[in-house]
Amino acid sequence: GLDIAKLLRETGEVTFDPGFVNTATARSAITYIDGDQGILRYRGYPIEQLAENSTFMEVSYLLIYGELPTAEQLESFDQGVRRHTLLHEDLRRFFGAFPRDAHPMPVLSSAVSALSTFYQDSLDPFDTDQVELSTTRLLAKLPTIAAYAYKKSLGSPTVFPDNSLDLISNFLRLSFGFPSEPFEVDETARKALDLLFILHADHEQNCSTSTVRLVGSSNANLFASVSAGIHALSGPLHGGANSAVLEMLEDIQASGEGVRKFVDRVKNKEQGVRLMGFGHRVYKNYDPRAAIVKKTADELLSKLGKRDELLDLALELEQIALEDDYFVDRKLYPNVDFYTGLIYKALGFPTKMFTVLFAIGRLPGWIAQWREMIQDPETKIGRPRQLYTGAGARDYVAIDNR
Ligand code: ACO
Repeated sequence: GLDIAKLLRETGEVTFDPGFVNTATARSAITYIDGDQGILRYRGYPIEQLAENSTFMEVSYLLIYGELPTAEQLESFDQGVRRHTLLHEDLRRFFGAFPRDAHPMPVLSSAVSALSTFYQDSLDPFDTDQVELSTTRLLAKLPTIAAYAYKKSLGSPTVFPDNSLDLISNFLRLSFGFPSEPFEVDETARKALDLLFILHADHEQNCSTSTVRLVGSSNANLFASVSAGIHALSGPLHGGANSAVLEMLEDIQASGEGVRKFVDRVKNKEQGVRLMGFGHRVYKNYDPRAAIVKKTADELLSKLGKRDELLDLALELEQIALEDDYFVDRKLYPNVDFYTGLIYKALGFPTKMFTVLFAIGRLPGWIAQWREMIQDPETKIGRPRQLYTGAGARDYVAIDNR
Protein backbone atom coordinates (compact mmCIF):
# COMPACT_ATOMS: atom_id res chain seq x y z
CA GLY A 1 0.00 0.00 0.00
CA LEU A 2 0.71 3.66 -0.29
CA ASP A 3 2.42 5.12 2.79
CA ILE A 4 0.54 8.41 3.08
CA ALA A 5 2.45 9.49 6.19
CA LYS A 6 5.77 9.06 4.33
CA LEU A 7 4.42 10.90 1.28
CA LEU A 8 3.32 13.73 3.50
CA ARG A 9 6.74 13.94 5.15
CA GLU A 10 8.39 14.09 1.75
CA THR A 11 6.02 16.46 -0.09
CA GLY A 12 4.35 18.40 2.75
CA GLU A 13 1.08 18.15 0.84
CA VAL A 14 -2.22 17.30 2.47
CA THR A 15 -5.51 16.17 0.95
CA PHE A 16 -8.39 18.59 1.51
CA ASP A 17 -11.53 16.49 1.82
CA PRO A 18 -14.14 17.98 4.16
CA GLY A 19 -16.73 15.39 5.06
CA PHE A 20 -14.37 12.59 3.90
CA VAL A 21 -16.23 12.41 0.61
CA ASN A 22 -13.39 10.59 -1.08
CA THR A 23 -11.18 9.37 1.73
CA ALA A 24 -11.07 5.72 2.78
CA THR A 25 -10.05 5.60 6.44
CA ALA A 26 -9.94 1.84 6.86
CA ARG A 27 -9.80 -1.50 5.13
CA SER A 28 -12.89 -3.40 6.19
CA ALA A 29 -14.22 -6.89 5.51
CA ILE A 30 -17.62 -6.29 7.10
CA THR A 31 -20.01 -4.46 4.78
CA TYR A 32 -19.98 -3.90 1.04
CA ILE A 33 -21.94 -1.10 -0.62
CA ASP A 34 -22.17 -0.31 -4.31
CA GLY A 35 -23.94 3.04 -4.27
CA ASP A 36 -24.49 3.24 -8.02
CA GLN A 37 -26.16 -0.14 -8.25
CA GLY A 38 -27.93 -0.02 -4.89
CA ILE A 39 -26.16 -3.09 -3.50
CA LEU A 40 -25.67 -3.79 0.20
CA ARG A 41 -24.08 -6.94 1.61
CA TYR A 42 -23.04 -7.95 5.13
CA ARG A 43 -19.98 -10.21 5.02
CA GLY A 44 -20.88 -10.98 1.40
CA TYR A 45 -24.52 -11.89 2.02
CA PRO A 46 -27.05 -9.70 0.15
CA ILE A 47 -29.27 -7.66 2.48
CA GLU A 48 -32.35 -8.96 0.67
CA GLN A 49 -31.48 -12.58 1.57
CA LEU A 50 -30.70 -11.72 5.18
CA ALA A 51 -33.93 -9.73 5.49
CA GLU A 52 -35.90 -12.65 4.09
CA ASN A 53 -34.27 -15.52 5.97
CA SER A 54 -32.20 -14.40 8.92
CA THR A 55 -32.77 -12.92 12.37
CA PHE A 56 -31.24 -9.90 14.07
CA MET A 57 -29.41 -12.18 16.51
CA GLU A 58 -27.90 -14.22 13.68
CA VAL A 59 -26.96 -11.08 11.73
CA SER A 60 -25.31 -9.66 14.86
CA TYR A 61 -23.19 -12.80 15.11
CA LEU A 62 -22.38 -12.66 11.41
CA LEU A 63 -21.22 -9.05 11.57
CA ILE A 64 -19.16 -9.49 14.72
CA TYR A 65 -17.59 -12.90 14.04
CA GLY A 66 -17.51 -12.92 10.23
CA GLU A 67 -19.48 -16.11 9.51
CA LEU A 68 -23.05 -17.30 9.88
CA PRO A 69 -23.26 -19.26 13.15
CA THR A 70 -24.02 -22.95 13.45
CA ALA A 71 -27.14 -23.74 15.50
CA GLU A 72 -24.91 -24.42 18.50
CA GLN A 73 -22.94 -21.18 18.13
CA LEU A 74 -26.14 -19.18 17.78
CA GLU A 75 -27.64 -20.81 20.86
CA SER A 76 -24.60 -20.07 22.97
CA PHE A 77 -24.40 -16.47 21.66
CA ASP A 78 -28.10 -15.93 22.36
CA GLN A 79 -27.92 -17.44 25.85
CA GLY A 80 -24.85 -15.34 26.68
CA VAL A 81 -26.72 -12.17 25.76
CA ARG A 82 -29.83 -13.23 27.73
CA ARG A 83 -27.73 -13.64 30.86
CA HIS A 84 -26.60 -9.99 30.79
CA THR A 85 -29.80 -8.01 30.20
CA LEU A 86 -30.19 -6.84 33.79
CA LEU A 87 -28.93 -3.37 34.77
CA HIS A 88 -27.07 -2.71 37.99
CA GLU A 89 -29.50 -1.13 40.49
CA ASP A 90 -27.31 1.95 40.80
CA LEU A 91 -27.40 2.43 37.03
CA ARG A 92 -31.16 1.88 37.00
CA ARG A 93 -31.45 4.81 39.40
CA PHE A 94 -29.80 7.09 36.81
CA PHE A 95 -33.02 7.17 34.83
CA GLY A 96 -34.91 8.87 37.63
CA ALA A 97 -32.32 11.65 37.71
CA PHE A 98 -32.73 12.85 34.13
CA PRO A 99 -35.41 15.44 33.43
CA ARG A 100 -38.60 13.66 32.41
CA ASP A 101 -38.83 15.50 29.11
CA ALA A 102 -35.22 14.64 28.20
CA HIS A 103 -34.71 13.22 24.72
CA PRO A 104 -33.98 9.47 25.06
CA MET A 105 -30.88 9.65 22.79
CA PRO A 106 -28.65 11.58 25.24
CA VAL A 107 -30.08 9.43 28.05
CA LEU A 108 -29.07 6.32 26.09
CA SER A 109 -25.61 7.66 25.38
CA SER A 110 -25.05 8.73 29.01
CA ALA A 111 -26.07 5.33 30.35
CA VAL A 112 -23.84 3.52 27.83
CA SER A 113 -20.99 5.82 28.81
CA ALA A 114 -21.65 4.95 32.47
CA LEU A 115 -21.18 1.24 31.67
CA SER A 116 -17.43 1.99 31.72
CA THR A 117 -17.80 2.89 35.40
CA PHE A 118 -19.81 -0.21 36.33
CA TYR A 119 -17.87 -2.80 34.34
CA GLN A 120 -14.23 -1.95 34.86
CA ASP A 121 -13.35 -5.61 34.31
CA SER A 122 -14.11 -5.38 30.58
CA LEU A 123 -12.41 -2.19 29.43
CA ASP A 124 -9.10 -3.43 28.02
CA PRO A 125 -9.36 -3.33 24.20
CA PHE A 126 -6.44 -5.76 23.82
CA ASP A 127 -7.68 -8.46 26.18
CA THR A 128 -9.76 -10.90 24.13
CA ASP A 129 -11.86 -12.12 27.07
CA GLN A 130 -12.64 -8.58 28.17
CA VAL A 131 -13.64 -7.60 24.64
CA GLU A 132 -15.98 -10.63 24.52
CA LEU A 133 -17.49 -9.63 27.84
CA SER A 134 -18.02 -5.98 26.88
CA THR A 135 -19.52 -7.12 23.56
CA THR A 136 -22.05 -9.36 25.29
CA ARG A 137 -22.83 -6.80 27.96
CA LEU A 138 -23.46 -4.07 25.43
CA LEU A 139 -25.65 -6.23 23.18
CA ALA A 140 -27.69 -7.29 26.19
CA LYS A 141 -27.94 -4.03 28.11
CA LEU A 142 -28.48 -1.46 25.37
CA PRO A 143 -32.09 -2.55 24.69
CA THR A 144 -32.80 -2.52 28.44
CA ILE A 145 -31.32 0.98 28.72
CA ALA A 146 -33.34 2.10 25.68
CA ALA A 147 -36.59 0.78 27.17
CA TYR A 148 -35.87 2.37 30.56
CA ALA A 149 -35.17 5.72 28.90
CA TYR A 150 -38.60 5.42 27.28
CA LYS A 151 -40.37 4.32 30.47
CA LYS A 152 -38.89 7.20 32.43
CA SER A 153 -40.00 9.69 29.78
CA LEU A 154 -43.53 8.46 30.45
CA GLY A 155 -43.11 8.48 34.19
CA SER A 156 -43.98 4.77 34.12
CA PRO A 157 -42.40 2.10 36.32
CA THR A 158 -39.66 -0.04 34.78
CA VAL A 159 -39.93 -3.82 34.55
CA PHE A 160 -37.10 -6.28 35.04
CA PRO A 161 -35.93 -8.19 31.96
CA ASP A 162 -37.35 -11.66 31.46
CA ASN A 163 -34.53 -13.79 30.17
CA SER A 164 -36.81 -16.57 29.02
CA LEU A 165 -37.60 -14.19 26.16
CA ASP A 166 -35.51 -13.50 23.08
CA LEU A 167 -33.84 -10.09 22.79
CA ILE A 168 -36.58 -8.38 20.81
CA SER A 169 -39.53 -9.85 22.73
CA ASN A 170 -37.78 -8.81 25.92
CA PHE A 171 -37.32 -5.29 24.56
CA LEU A 172 -41.00 -5.05 23.62
CA ARG A 173 -41.98 -6.19 27.10
CA LEU A 174 -39.55 -3.78 28.77
CA SER A 175 -40.98 -0.95 26.64
CA PHE A 176 -44.69 -1.70 26.85
CA GLY A 177 -45.13 -4.06 29.81
CA PHE A 178 -45.94 -3.23 33.43
CA PRO A 179 -44.65 -4.84 36.65
CA SER A 180 -46.61 -7.93 37.70
CA GLU A 181 -48.87 -7.75 34.67
CA PRO A 182 -48.72 -10.48 32.04
CA PHE A 183 -47.39 -9.30 28.70
CA GLU A 184 -48.13 -11.00 25.44
CA VAL A 185 -45.60 -10.45 22.68
CA ASP A 186 -47.26 -9.54 19.40
CA GLU A 187 -45.56 -11.76 16.81
CA THR A 188 -46.15 -9.28 13.97
CA ALA A 189 -44.53 -6.50 15.99
CA ARG A 190 -41.60 -8.71 16.98
CA LYS A 191 -40.96 -9.72 13.38
CA ALA A 192 -41.24 -6.11 12.17
CA LEU A 193 -38.66 -4.92 14.68
CA ASP A 194 -36.40 -7.87 13.88
CA LEU A 195 -36.48 -6.95 10.19
CA LEU A 196 -35.82 -3.25 10.81
CA PHE A 197 -32.90 -4.05 13.11
CA ILE A 198 -31.39 -6.33 10.44
CA LEU A 199 -31.64 -3.51 7.89
CA HIS A 200 -29.89 -1.07 10.24
CA ALA A 201 -27.25 -3.45 11.58
CA ASP A 202 -24.28 -2.02 9.67
CA HIS A 203 -23.57 0.47 6.94
CA GLU A 204 -19.78 0.69 6.71
CA GLN A 205 -18.13 4.05 7.43
CA ASN A 206 -21.19 6.25 8.08
CA CYS A 207 -20.94 9.16 10.52
CA SER A 208 -21.66 7.23 13.74
CA THR A 209 -19.51 4.21 12.81
CA SER A 210 -16.63 6.48 11.82
CA THR A 211 -17.06 8.18 15.19
CA VAL A 212 -16.90 4.84 17.00
CA ARG A 213 -13.72 4.00 15.09
CA LEU A 214 -12.17 7.43 15.61
CA VAL A 215 -12.77 7.39 19.37
CA GLY A 216 -11.62 3.76 19.55
CA SER A 217 -8.46 4.56 17.57
CA SER A 218 -7.09 6.22 20.70
CA ASN A 219 -7.62 2.79 22.37
CA ALA A 220 -10.64 4.12 24.27
CA ASN A 221 -12.84 1.26 25.46
CA LEU A 222 -15.88 -0.13 23.63
CA PHE A 223 -18.50 1.51 25.89
CA ALA A 224 -16.88 4.94 25.50
CA SER A 225 -16.60 4.55 21.72
CA VAL A 226 -20.21 3.41 21.28
CA SER A 227 -21.48 6.15 23.57
CA ALA A 228 -19.87 8.71 21.22
CA GLY A 229 -21.36 6.89 18.22
CA ILE A 230 -24.84 7.27 19.73
CA HIS A 231 -24.40 11.04 19.86
CA ALA A 232 -23.25 11.07 16.24
CA LEU A 233 -26.33 9.07 15.27
CA SER A 234 -28.65 11.53 16.99
CA GLY A 235 -28.21 14.29 14.40
CA PRO A 236 -31.06 14.90 11.92
CA LEU A 237 -28.74 14.40 8.94
CA HIS A 238 -27.99 10.87 10.20
CA GLY A 239 -30.17 8.63 12.40
CA GLY A 240 -32.24 11.56 13.60
CA ALA A 241 -33.71 11.69 10.09
CA ASN A 242 -36.20 8.91 10.92
CA SER A 243 -38.03 11.11 13.40
CA ALA A 244 -37.56 14.19 11.21
CA VAL A 245 -39.39 12.36 8.38
CA LEU A 246 -42.43 11.72 10.50
CA GLU A 247 -42.47 15.30 11.78
CA MET A 248 -42.23 16.49 8.17
CA LEU A 249 -45.14 14.28 7.08
CA GLU A 250 -47.22 15.46 10.04
CA ASP A 251 -46.41 19.09 9.23
CA ILE A 252 -47.43 18.66 5.60
CA GLN A 253 -50.66 17.02 6.72
CA ALA A 254 -51.42 19.66 9.33
CA SER A 255 -50.62 22.63 7.08
CA GLY A 256 -52.86 21.31 4.33
CA GLU A 257 -50.46 22.90 1.83
CA GLY A 258 -50.31 19.73 -0.28
CA VAL A 259 -47.32 17.66 -1.28
CA ARG A 260 -46.47 19.61 -4.44
CA LYS A 261 -46.24 22.91 -2.57
CA PHE A 262 -43.93 21.31 -0.05
CA VAL A 263 -41.73 19.88 -2.80
CA ASP A 264 -41.51 23.37 -4.33
CA ARG A 265 -40.28 24.72 -1.00
CA VAL A 266 -37.60 22.03 -0.91
CA LYS A 267 -36.53 22.83 -4.48
CA ASN A 268 -36.34 26.55 -3.67
CA LYS A 269 -34.23 25.64 -0.62
CA GLU A 270 -36.53 27.77 1.49
CA GLN A 271 -34.80 28.22 4.86
CA GLY A 272 -32.69 25.19 4.05
CA VAL A 273 -35.75 22.93 4.05
CA ARG A 274 -34.85 19.44 2.82
CA LEU A 275 -36.88 16.41 1.95
CA MET A 276 -36.00 14.35 5.01
CA GLY A 277 -35.39 10.66 4.36
CA PHE A 278 -34.15 11.47 0.88
CA GLY A 279 -30.59 11.45 -0.40
CA HIS A 280 -27.51 9.58 0.67
CA ARG A 281 -23.78 10.17 0.50
CA VAL A 282 -23.13 6.78 -1.09
CA TYR A 283 -26.39 5.61 -2.69
CA LYS A 284 -26.96 7.37 -5.95
CA ASN A 285 -29.60 4.81 -6.80
CA TYR A 286 -32.46 3.50 -4.67
CA ASP A 287 -31.33 2.57 -1.14
CA PRO A 288 -31.93 -1.23 -1.09
CA ARG A 289 -33.00 -1.01 2.56
CA ALA A 290 -35.66 1.57 1.69
CA ALA A 291 -36.96 -0.77 -1.02
CA ILE A 292 -37.42 -3.53 1.57
CA VAL A 293 -39.03 -1.24 4.15
CA LYS A 294 -41.37 0.27 1.58
CA LYS A 295 -42.49 -3.17 0.46
CA THR A 296 -43.20 -4.28 4.01
CA ALA A 297 -44.57 -1.01 5.45
CA ASP A 298 -47.89 -1.29 3.67
CA GLU A 299 -48.24 -4.99 4.51
CA LEU A 300 -47.25 -4.50 8.14
CA LEU A 301 -49.46 -1.53 8.74
CA SER A 302 -52.47 -3.46 7.46
CA LYS A 303 -51.50 -6.52 9.54
CA LEU A 304 -51.12 -4.41 12.66
CA GLY A 305 -54.47 -2.83 11.86
CA LYS A 306 -52.77 0.60 11.80
CA ARG A 307 -53.45 1.90 8.30
CA ASP A 308 -51.93 5.40 8.30
CA GLU A 309 -52.80 8.30 6.03
CA LEU A 310 -49.21 9.43 6.41
CA LEU A 311 -48.14 6.37 4.41
CA ASP A 312 -50.20 7.57 1.47
CA LEU A 313 -48.62 10.99 1.88
CA ALA A 314 -45.14 9.45 1.90
CA LEU A 315 -45.91 7.38 -1.22
CA GLU A 316 -47.21 10.48 -3.00
CA LEU A 317 -44.16 12.49 -1.94
CA GLU A 318 -41.82 9.82 -3.24
CA GLN A 319 -43.68 9.58 -6.53
CA ILE A 320 -43.57 13.33 -7.13
CA ALA A 321 -39.90 13.57 -6.14
CA LEU A 322 -38.83 10.67 -8.34
CA GLU A 323 -40.36 12.36 -11.38
CA ASP A 324 -38.91 15.79 -10.63
CA ASP A 325 -35.69 16.99 -12.30
CA TYR A 326 -34.38 18.53 -9.05
CA PHE A 327 -34.24 15.10 -7.41
CA VAL A 328 -33.40 13.16 -10.57
CA ASP A 329 -30.42 15.42 -11.42
CA ARG A 330 -29.03 15.16 -7.89
CA LYS A 331 -29.72 11.42 -7.72
CA LEU A 332 -31.83 11.80 -4.58
CA TYR A 333 -33.83 8.69 -3.67
CA PRO A 334 -35.54 7.59 -0.46
CA ASN A 335 -33.07 6.29 2.11
CA VAL A 336 -33.79 3.73 4.84
CA ASP A 337 -35.27 6.39 7.12
CA PHE A 338 -38.06 7.43 4.76
CA TYR A 339 -40.51 4.67 5.67
CA THR A 340 -39.23 3.27 8.99
CA GLY A 341 -40.88 5.92 11.18
CA LEU A 342 -44.30 4.87 9.96
CA ILE A 343 -43.63 1.34 11.16
CA TYR A 344 -42.19 2.43 14.52
CA LYS A 345 -45.24 4.63 15.00
CA ALA A 346 -47.57 1.72 14.21
CA LEU A 347 -45.72 -0.37 16.80
CA GLY A 348 -46.64 2.23 19.41
CA PHE A 349 -43.35 4.10 19.79
CA PRO A 350 -43.41 7.89 20.05
CA THR A 351 -41.36 9.87 17.50
CA LYS A 352 -38.65 10.65 20.07
CA MET A 353 -37.83 6.93 20.32
CA PHE A 354 -37.25 6.31 16.61
CA THR A 355 -33.55 7.14 16.64
CA VAL A 356 -33.07 5.04 19.76
CA LEU A 357 -34.50 2.09 17.82
CA PHE A 358 -32.02 2.82 15.05
CA ALA A 359 -29.24 2.70 17.67
CA ILE A 360 -30.32 -0.76 18.88
CA GLY A 361 -30.22 -1.97 15.29
CA ARG A 362 -26.84 -0.36 14.53
CA LEU A 363 -25.13 -1.67 17.67
CA PRO A 364 -23.72 -4.94 16.24
CA GLY A 365 -22.21 -2.94 13.37
CA TRP A 366 -20.51 -0.50 15.74
CA ILE A 367 -19.16 -3.40 17.79
CA ALA A 368 -17.95 -5.32 14.73
CA GLN A 369 -16.24 -2.22 13.32
CA TRP A 370 -14.61 -1.33 16.63
CA ARG A 371 -13.27 -4.88 17.03
CA GLU A 372 -11.99 -4.96 13.47
CA MET A 373 -10.26 -1.61 14.01
CA ILE A 374 -8.66 -2.70 17.28
CA GLN A 375 -7.33 -5.92 15.71
CA ASP A 376 -6.05 -4.26 12.53
CA PRO A 377 -2.25 -3.74 12.62
CA GLU A 378 -2.71 -0.87 10.13
CA THR A 379 -4.81 1.13 12.61
CA LYS A 380 -3.33 4.45 13.64
CA ILE A 381 -4.85 7.01 15.94
CA GLY A 382 -7.32 9.07 13.89
CA ARG A 383 -5.80 12.48 13.49
CA PRO A 384 -6.87 14.46 10.41
CA ARG A 385 -4.93 17.48 9.17
CA GLN A 386 -6.27 20.95 8.42
CA LEU A 387 -5.68 23.92 6.16
CA TYR A 388 -5.03 26.81 8.51
CA THR A 389 -6.97 29.97 7.55
CA GLY A 390 -6.44 32.10 10.66
CA ALA A 391 -4.33 35.19 11.39
CA GLY A 392 -0.58 35.27 10.74
CA ALA A 393 1.81 35.73 13.66
CA ARG A 394 1.00 38.84 15.70
CA ASP A 395 2.04 40.33 19.01
CA TYR A 396 -0.02 40.11 22.14
CA VAL A 397 -1.91 43.31 22.98
CA ALA A 398 -2.48 44.23 26.63
CA ILE A 399 -6.19 44.36 27.55
CA ASP A 400 -6.21 48.15 28.12
CA ASN A 401 -4.90 48.76 24.61
CA ARG A 402 -7.55 46.72 22.73
N1 ACO B 1 -33.63 17.35 0.05
C1 ACO B 1 -33.35 18.32 -0.84
N2 ACO B 1 -32.15 18.50 -1.40
C2 ACO B 1 -31.17 17.64 -1.05
C3 ACO B 1 -31.39 16.60 -0.14
C4 ACO B 1 -32.67 16.46 0.42
N3 ACO B 1 -32.93 15.50 1.29
N4 ACO B 1 -30.23 15.92 0.02
C5 ACO B 1 -29.34 16.51 -0.77
N5 ACO B 1 -29.90 17.55 -1.42
C6 ACO B 1 -29.26 18.41 -2.43
C7 ACO B 1 -28.33 19.42 -1.80
O1 ACO B 1 -29.01 20.63 -1.51
C8 ACO B 1 -27.29 19.58 -2.89
O2 ACO B 1 -27.85 20.39 -3.90
P1 ACO B 1 -27.00 21.61 -4.54
O3 ACO B 1 -25.88 20.95 -5.26
O4 ACO B 1 -27.98 22.32 -5.39
O5 ACO B 1 -26.57 22.44 -3.36
C9 ACO B 1 -27.17 18.17 -3.47
O6 ACO B 1 -28.44 17.57 -3.24
C10 ACO B 1 -26.07 17.33 -2.84
O7 ACO B 1 -26.29 17.30 -1.44
P2 ACO B 1 -25.16 17.21 -0.35
O8 ACO B 1 -25.66 17.86 0.89
O9 ACO B 1 -23.85 17.69 -0.91
O10 ACO B 1 -25.06 15.65 -0.15
P3 ACO B 1 -24.34 14.90 1.02
O11 ACO B 1 -23.83 13.63 0.48
O12 ACO B 1 -23.36 15.79 1.72
O13 ACO B 1 -25.53 14.64 2.07
C11 ACO B 1 -27.33 13.65 3.20
C12 ACO B 1 -26.15 13.43 2.25
C13 ACO B 1 -26.82 14.31 4.50
C14 ACO B 1 -27.93 12.30 3.57
C15 ACO B 1 -28.38 14.56 2.51
O14 ACO B 1 -28.88 13.92 1.36
C16 ACO B 1 -29.53 14.97 3.44
O15 ACO B 1 -29.41 15.96 4.16
N6 ACO B 1 -30.66 14.16 3.45
C17 ACO B 1 -31.76 14.45 4.34
C18 ACO B 1 -31.47 13.87 5.72
C19 ACO B 1 -31.53 12.34 5.73
O16 ACO B 1 -32.46 11.75 5.24
N7 ACO B 1 -30.51 11.73 6.36
C20 ACO B 1 -30.43 10.27 6.51
C21 ACO B 1 -29.27 9.76 5.77
S1 ACO B 1 -29.27 8.01 5.75
C22 ACO B 1 -28.93 7.51 7.30
O17 ACO B 1 -28.27 8.15 8.09
C23 ACO B 1 -29.50 6.25 7.68
